[in-house]
Amino acid sequence: MTKICCIGAGYVGGPTMAMIAKQCPDVQVNVVDINEKRIAAWQTDDLPIFEPGLLGVVKEARGRNLFFSTDVDQGIRDADIIFVSVNTPTKTFGEGAGCASDLQYWELCARRIKEVSISDKIIVEKSTLPVRTAEAMERVLHAGDNPVHFEVLSNPEFLAEGTAIEDLECPDRVLIGGHETETGQKALQTLAEIYATWIPRERILTTNLWSSELSKLTANAFLAQRVSSINAISALCEATEADVGEVAHAIGTDSRIGPKFLKASIGFGGSCFKKDILNLVYLCESYGLPEPANYWRQVVTMNDYQETRFVKTMLHNMFNTIANKRIAVFGFAFKADTGDTRESPAIKVCRELASEHATIVVSDPEAMDNAKLEMPELADQIEFEEDPYKAAFGAHAVAVLTDWKQYGELDYQRIYDSMQKPAFLFDGRNMLDHNALFEMGFEVYSIGKGLKTHLK
Ligand code: NAD
Ligand code: UDX
Repeated sequence: MTKICCIGAGYVGGPTMAMIAKQCPDVQVNVVDINEKRIAAWQTDDLPIFEPGLLGVVKEARGRNLFFSTDVDQGIRDADIIFVSVNTPTKTFGEGAGCASDLQYWELCARRIKEVSISDKIIVEKSTLPVRTAEAMERVLHAGDNPVHFEVLSNPEFLAEGTAIEDLECPDRVLIGGHETETGQKALQTLAEIYATWIPRERILTTNLWSSELSKLTANAFLAQRVSSINAISALCEATEADVGEVAHAIGTDSRIGPKFLKASIGFGGSCFKKDILNLVYLCESYGLPEPANYWRQVVTMNDYQETRFVKTMLHNMFNTIANKRIAVFGFAFKADTGDTRESPAIKVCRELASEHATIVVSDPEAMDNAKLEMPELADQIEFEEDPYKAAFGAHAVAVLTDWKQYGELDYQRIYDSMQKPAFLFDGRNMLDHNALFEMGFEVYSIGKGLKTHLK
């Protein structure tokens, strides 16, 4: 029986390993993590992350061939294949602070693997890493006179939160990079065999190690670039009475452009886009390529601009003062169908509203626990209220920051009736029926369309 160990039981390690275990009953999958609380939660039906469909997949395999443990050393020792899926956040100190990847967790894993392994292993980079990390990994693993052979592969993960289970069940592609040596190719085929249990062979792409590592950063940079591109156009739409939804549709029907990732918004969030683009910027700079670095940095600059622009628009439309005004924030997660608030645009929006002395009421169906941890410094300016009707009661404005489906289904007449007048609604996701809201009496702002106002 093939034994897999995954180090890191987070948003990627948990769902990815659950899917492998579900699809391959003859493979034993041990997911290990130093975070005891997380591991304990994976063993219950109250999983540590909210992801539609995940519990069903976990339950099918848990206790059969899927196990969660804090015994990292045992997991490593027993495994034939080790996935490393630890966090690789942006460095906050020293050289490259604010841009480079913090590789300390990754390197600690490499050292632990070297320390406790007593048999040959395939090591799979599942975390998103700077290109050529595998080289450093190999040097750590093979330092000294270790008789054990480690073959390093890159197998970046392309799942998106909120759709992780569909993405894992039916991915556009699986990417595996390995050395062009006999042992490298053998390891690559071993991993490909596992995925081939449920994924058609033609969707399993194989490349050299560096192409695979770089493809992950590039994919996220291209996706984020599309969002920043349409957001840049949204500002121009507001100045010219063009409608960003119509523009996106018109360009998206060009098969060379395609319709996806053209939804104007308050900005992209999540733990990946900003971190991975900054990592790409840092790589370009460290290889002496300032022009490509500046090109990609602009994607993040545009995103910051969009978040700030949204708050400025709120302030200016509300007569240049929001001090002591009650603002209901609908949605704190960085996107719908997740409880994840990492790098959510809502964080910056709330901070900037708070700096204008607004009273903020945050509502979200799944992200309340994480939201409470994000802004401890604003504790006396922020209330948390799960019920959106209560959150909006007596408010001067509602700001929709996350595209939760349920926000499209609320009784906005009831909300309007309970609010201060003029009642403002700022739709940061362009997901509501703006004409209907306007007819109810709302002052309605939407990204890339501007304000519809009754006030003269
Ligand atoms: P996460 O923070 O949710 O999970 C990482 C886990 O690793 C944590 O539970 C942490 O305790 C554990 N860990 C850290 N050091 C450890 C060690 N030495 N030993 C054992 N466990 C350790 O992170 P995530 O969102 O799952 O992301 C993991 C990687 O995958 C990152 O590189 C990220 O860029 C990449 N990625 C994330 C997504 C996503 O949607 N979140 C998608 C694709 C790729
Ligand atoms: C992303 C990548 O899509 C995924 O392939 C990678 O593995 C991890 O990073 P994720 O961050 O989970 O996934 O979500 P994604 O759907 O890409 O959305 C990222 C952000 O962009 C969200 O804040 C979302 O609301 C925003 N977005 C997305 C837009 O504002 N407009 C769009 O058209 C699409």
